[in-house]
Amino acid sequence: MATQHAIDFRPLLSTRAQIGQTARGTIASATRTVATPLYEFGGGRPDPGSFPYDDLVAATAAMMKAEGADALTYGDSLGYTGLRDLVAHKYRLFEGLEVERDNILIANGSSHALSLAISAFVDLGDPLICEAPTFSGTLATIRRHGPEVIGVPVDEQGLVTGVLRERLEGLRRAGRRCKMIYTIVNFQNPSGPTMTLSRRHELLALAQEYETIILEDDAYGELRFEGEQHPSLYALDTAGCVIRSGTLSKILGAGTRLGWLCAPKEMIPALSSFNFGGGVNPFMSRIATYYMRDHMPEHVARLVEVYRNKRDAMRRGLLETLEGIDARVNKPEGGFFLWIRLPTGTDRTRLAELAAEARVQYVPGTSFFPGGGGEEFIRLAYSYESVEKCYEGARLLGQAIRAATH
Ligand SMILES: Cc1ncc(COP(=O)(O)O)c(C=O)c1O
Repeated sequence: MATQHAIDFRPLLSTRAQIGQTARGTIASATRTVATPLYEFGGGRPDPGSFPYDDLVAATAAMMKAEGADALTYGDSLGYTGLRDLVAHKYRLFEGLEVERDNILIANGSSHALSLAISAFVDLGDPLICEAPTFSGTLATIRRHGPEVIGVPVDEQGLVTGVLRERLEGLRRAGRRCKMIYTIVNFQNPSGPTMTLSRRHELLALAQEYETIILEDDAYGELRFEGEQHPSLYALDTAGCVIRSGTLSKILGAGTRLGWLCAPKEMIPALSSFNFGGGVNPFMSRIATYYMRDHMPEHVARLVEVYRNKRDAMRRGLLETLEGIDARVNKPEGGFFLWIRLPTGTDRTRLAELAAEARVQYVPGTSFFPGGGGEEFIRLAYSYESVEKCYEGARLLGQAIRAATH
């Protein structure tokens, strides 16, 4: 009998799978600073205490009675129409923005939605511009597609459009065209700013002039604690160049795995070309729709209170312990994260050791920069832990930063 041996599948992997594994591996190892954290300030996980357990049970029962077999069979390839209508309703309610069901494509969370958009436009080697820093999850998705990733800095007004122009012009001079500009417009993850209205107009004008697509990620827009809400790039766009993503992860539960793209109707077939058959989770789409139809405004208003309190508690803990040294703690107008510039002279290895001893998790700034850099930053998520733990953990981390700084 021939000896059995496992084949080495690695040489058979597609280029994208190989690139994707490296990208994911790098990010996973960069985020794992504490094995068993007591203060989980790492990933952007929603607050478990605010999940509407009982109302979701009721919504599931009501949905099953009303929809019966439809809920458990294959769904529409663009997503459950009820949810596509709900997304349109949400835009009307929160932003006064009119979109139609035909502008909406449902996906498995906004990670998947963003991936669909990138797959539809980006080939290996294509130039793609993103913010530096940007969300590490999307950065891994972008890298998996193998483009040339070009970072443009972010300041307190959002993406720096002056630098963006230089990059776009540089590409044009080299006979190349940027395929896509990925931007997180509200409470940018990780660095916090909301893009000002004038920057939004400048960005749109540049996308039009250089004929490229804008991928507008708005995972947190509903969770605004204060400050002025600006119209989205999608709302301001007159050239049909903006694709916008959204998600139920932060306003209902990340376990729903429901997100979407909102795009010009003519683009939807191309955007859905990498989707699978059978629709995205028709069962959960219905439950979420039934729940959100009845509860969305009050539920989101409650979440705004919850996250504002956590942001304030975490900032208080940091500011109290970092007083008198030149650390900088930002104050985002919404969302899940604080972005901290460490004082000059912080020994980052020592900080990691001290934070691990205190079992406080954070994400090193280096995870978020497409082209290297970011050593002087860390990101903290206040979304998951209680107000008390946000305060306590922030104090412990502040003390660790102080002790690690000469
Ligand atoms: C800026 C941003 N975009 C997209 C996502 C993806 O979220 P999901 O796939 O759960 O919708 C996240 C999650 O943390 C995020 O912070």
